[in-house]
Amino acid sequence: MNKLMAANWKMYKIYEEAKDTAEALVKLLDGKLPDGREVLVFPPFTALRGVSKKFKDEKGFWTGGQDFWPEKEGAFTGEISPGMLRDAGAAFALTGHSERRHVIGESDELVGRKTAFALASGLSVVLCVGEKIEERRSGALEAVLERQLRAGLADVPREIDPARLAVAYEPVWAIGTGEVAGPKEILGAHACVRRILLDIFENIGNDIKILYGGSVKPDNCAEIIALDNVDGVLVGGASLAAESFARIVLAGA
Ligand code: PGA
Repeated sequence: MNKLMAANWKMYKIYEEAKDTAEALVKLLDGKLPDGREVLVFPPFTALRGVSKKFKDEKGFWTGGQDFWPEKEGAFTGEISPGMLRDAGAAFALTGHSERRHVIGESDELVGRKTAFALASGLSVVLCVGEKIEERRSGALEAVLERQLRAGLADVPREIDPARLAVAYEPVWAIGTGEVAGPKEILGAHACVRRILLDIFENIGNDIKILYGGSVKPDNCAEIIALDNVDGVLVGGASLAAESFARIVLAGA
C-alpha cells in the first residue's frame, strides 16, 4: 500500500505564500519522491487553485479541501460545495478534524453526512478520529474510535474503492502540542481502527489507509511511518515550511 504523506495547512498562508511553499516543495522533491509515497496538501480555500496548479504535472502530488458543506449548491451563505473544491483542483476532502469537532462544534452525525457526500461527489476522503486526553485516561479510547468511525462511515457504500478512503488517527492531546503519541499508543489505536474497518467493510478494510497525526516532525516521522498499520501521516505545524515537510515526506523511505 502506498504511504500517504499529508499536510494540513489549517488557517495559515495567503495565496502567494501557499503557492511559493508548494513550488518549493515540488523543487525539493523533484525526482526524489520514492515509489510508494504520495503527497497530499490541504491548503486554505483561497489558495487551493494556486497550489493545485503547482501540482498539476507532478506524479503523486494531490490537493484537498479542509472543509465543505454537504450539499450540491443552494442558499448556504459562506459555504463551499464539494463540486467547488473539485473545480479548484482538489482530489480529496478532510472530514472530522478535531478542530472542526471540538472548536467549531461538528457532531459525529454531521461528520458522517459530510464523509458520504464528499465520496458521492467524486472526492476521496480523509476522515479524522481521535480521543481527548480525559477520554484516554478514563479508558474510553476504543469506545470513542468505535463511535466516531461507525457514525463517520455510516452512509459510505460497503463496496467503496479503498483507495478513495483513509482514516487519520489523531489523538486530540497530541495535536499542536509537541506531545507525540508513543509507538505503543499508536500501534494500539491503529490496530483498533483496523479492527473496526474490517468489521464495517470486511476484506476491503485491509486496504483502507490509516494515517497518524499529532506532532509529527522530521525527526520522529521515520519511526512512526515504520509501525504496523501506519499507512501515512497527517501533519500540521511541521508541514508549513517546505524544507520540513519535504524531510517528512522522505523520512524512512
Ligand atoms: P500538528 O497537527 O501536526 O500541528 O500536531 C496535526 C493536525 O491537526 O492534523
